[in-house]
Amino acid sequence: MTELHAAQLERGRGRLFGVSLGPGDPGLITRRAWALLERTDAVWTYPVRSLRKESYALDIVLRSGMTLPAQHQPLLFPMTHDVEKLARHWLKAAETVKALLATGQDVLFLVEGDASTYASFCYLARVLRELEPDAQIDIVPGVTSFNAACAQLQMPLSEQDDTIAIVPAAYGIAAVEKMLDDFDTLVLMKVKPLLDDLIALLERRGLLAHSRFIEKAGSPVERIVHNVAELKGTKVNYLSLLLVKNPNRERGEMLRGCRKKTSTEIEEEELQE
Ligand SMILES: C[S@@+](CC[C@H](N)C(=O)[O-])C[C@H]1O[C@@H](n2cnc3c(N)ncnc32)[C@H](O)[C@@H]1O
Repeated sequence: MTELHAAQLERGRGRLFGVSLGPGDPGLITRRAWALLERTDAVWTYPVRSLRKESYALDIVLRSGMTLPAQHQPLLFPMTHDVEKLARHWLKAAETVKALLATGQDVLFLVEGDASTYASFCYLARVLRELEPDAQIDIVPGVTSFNAACAQLQMPLSEQDDTIAIVPAAYGIAAVEKMLDDFDTLVLMKVKPLLDDLIALLERRGLLAHSRFIEKAGSPVERIVHNVAELKGTKVNYLSLLLVKNPNRERGEMLRGCRKKTSTEIEEEELQE
């Protein structure tokens, strides 16, 4: 037992764990996350968009064969851009977790993908720290949606000196277009509301052949679309992203990086050794 754990037990307060589960395939749950899920003394919490909706994160765990423990609690994180409404729900979720931790139990918050990547866990942890600055919080890292997507699509995220941008498409078409000047790979997240405009942009820039779409990667209803243009005018799920390769990007001169050394440089280095 670490000193920190000992001190906590003495104070009688539990610890919050952000448990990353990967984007949908239970096979991508890490051993560290799995060990936490096997504990019988911890409370499971998980995000839901509405109390009538299932939790995608919880579903990943249940599909792994685990059973829901007696103590579990959904936390409401609605999909809205209303800043005040969001703040109210983050506060409520953090207060719920705070009360659970005060009972001395550890709390697991189940996270789809990775807990540090556009995850509701980030808000939960931040507000909990505001309520309780010495709250003990651990984060178990996990596989992100785009890492799993690259593997499924057999599309490298990056090679050699490639630059990568991970962008919520909500920044708008003009912002995405500007990034095409600087990045070799664009990971476009949260594409649902802008999909038609994005397809038009990719078409205009001659990038449709270098783009792929994936929805609910790793889940039993995963959908991969190679011909992205066929999605025009259709509805897609919120859990979907576009991977765009930008092979024609003009690269400036590289000052540093992984470029191959010339034989003169190798000789010079050998002389210095
Ligand atoms: C709130 S973010 C969550 C990101 C997640 N924490 C991660 O590590 O990838 C939601 C966005 O991530 C992407 N996403 C998350 N899970 C996905 C999945 N299973 N398949 C495809 N895209 C996914 C989508 O672009 C979605 O709009």
